[in-house]
Amino acid sequence: MPFIRRSGVTSHLIFAIAAAAIGSSFQHGYNTGVVNAPTDLIKQFINETFHERFDEYPEKGTISLIFSIMVSIFCVGGMIGALLTAYVAEKFGRKGGLLWNNVFVFVAAALMGFSKLCRSYEMLILGRFFIGFNAGLNAGLAPMYLTEISPVNLRGAIGTIYQLVITISILISNILGIPEIFGTEDKWPILFAATVVPSIFMLATLPLCPESPKHILIIQGRDVNAQRALTWFRGTIEVHDEMDEMRAEYEAMKLVPKVTLHEMWYNPTLRQPLVIAVVVMLSQQLSGINAAMYFSTDIFEKAGLVKKEALYSTMGMGVINVAMTLVSLILVDRCGRRTLHLFGLAGMAVTTVILTLCLALNYIKVFGYISIVAVFAFVIMFATGPGSIPWFLVAELFGAGARAVATSIAVAVNWSANFVVGLAFLPLMESIRGNVFLIFTFLLALFWLFTYKKVPETKGKTAEEIAAVFRQKAYQIN
Ligand SMILES: *[C@@H]1O[C@H](CO)[C@@H](O)[C@H](O)[C@H]1NC(C)=O
Repeated sequence: MPFIRRSGVTSHLIFAIAAAAIGSSFQHGYNTGVVNAPTDLIKQFINETFHERFDEYPEKGTISLIFSIMVSIFCVGGMIGALLTAYVAEKFGRKGGLLWNNVFVFVAAALMGFSKLCRSYEMLILGRFFIGFNAGLNAGLAPMYLTEISPVNLRGAIGTIYQLVITISILISNILGIPEIFGTEDKWPILFAATVVPSIFMLATLPLCPESPKHILIIQGRDVNAQRALTWFRGTIEVHDEMDEMRAEYEAMKLVPKVTLHEMWYNPTLRQPLVIAVVVMLSQQLSGINAAMYFSTDIFEKAGLVKKEALYSTMGMGVINVAMTLVSLILVDRCGRRTLHLFGLAGMAVTTVILTLCLALNYIKVFGYISIVAVFAFVIMFATGPGSIPWFLVAELFGAGARAVATSIAVAVNWSANFVVGLAFLPLMESIRGNVFLIFTFLLALFWLFTYKKVPETKGKTAEEIAAVFRQKAYQIN
């Protein structure tokens, strides 16, 4: 099959993608969505446990506070995990780091799964912290591994798989959380413990795949082993061109001192891509996507749907998110990252304006329906680019020498922004109501301008070619 040979898709590559992406990205998506459906059940559990201990019922505010800590500590764990990505990726390797990271999944699943049995909501909180830590590391390591094992012409599509699995696992968490499955008073701990299943899958499959050839060559300096790994992924011994590119990157890296935070900031050829990576990550989280996700059930109810229909519409939103991320996967290596990201941001900005109008006028029935369409359009635009591109763009913007440190910073920024939106949205929503979406309109416009002016197209370029773009720009500035 000459097409497959040329495009670089081999059964080994597909196996490695599945092994690395499913077990890692699942933790990130599943645990983002898992608290939604059983919210009332968990609040009741907090209520009862508190009652048993102190012999009085907690106030509503106390329950909400404990619940919010449980939800948001996931992001705190994520930030810390992300910051450790650089250390873990260099010390244990991309693959080794992903494998070891599963220890935290087992700890977290045990803590959360037994929390009800032990009558302890602290265990639930601690478990959420550990699974957040795990997801933070995964969000750095998995896109790095996926980007490094991909042939250049497929790098975008393979990088998008990280976000694709996130969207699928959010959907899975919503489905498993319905009362007919695990969304009951007795069974919700199973819902939380189920997060261990994809880890077992990873532990069974990823050890059969080699480490990223770039890591083997550029970080460890082992040429023969790198070539062997690359041969495994490509299914051919004719990997000379790709090996030569990697060797060139290795030689170039030996010329610069070890990449530290200081070096990242004072060396303009590293600072530019770092600023881009950070702003692109911010554009994903500060686009307001999570606000829309949380708010969706509310909007649908306001539009005249009953609770159950509203829940199913939220699930429909999840399906659209998956479907559009798939479309983006197909488009990203044709249209380019920059184009899709710009298109998505612009579309999101327009829909936030429409949404604000609809929310202001929602006493007129028809605007209720338009607001449903607007929320769906918002998700479609998100999935087109801003949902998936930031994860792998970071890895693309840097050579292997600086990649781990840059990923660490960018992913930590992503989790921090996620945390801030999660905390700030509800209070803002209560004080300025639907106008809260205008804040996102403003931010989206800024991110669009930045992307238009600063973000280069990375489609089809090798690490060396991308580095050359930044060298040239730095030269022009000086
Ligand atoms: C806590 O549980 C008790 C007993 O079931 C109930 O009366 C009370 O309303 C609950 N408190 C809250 C804030 O839900």
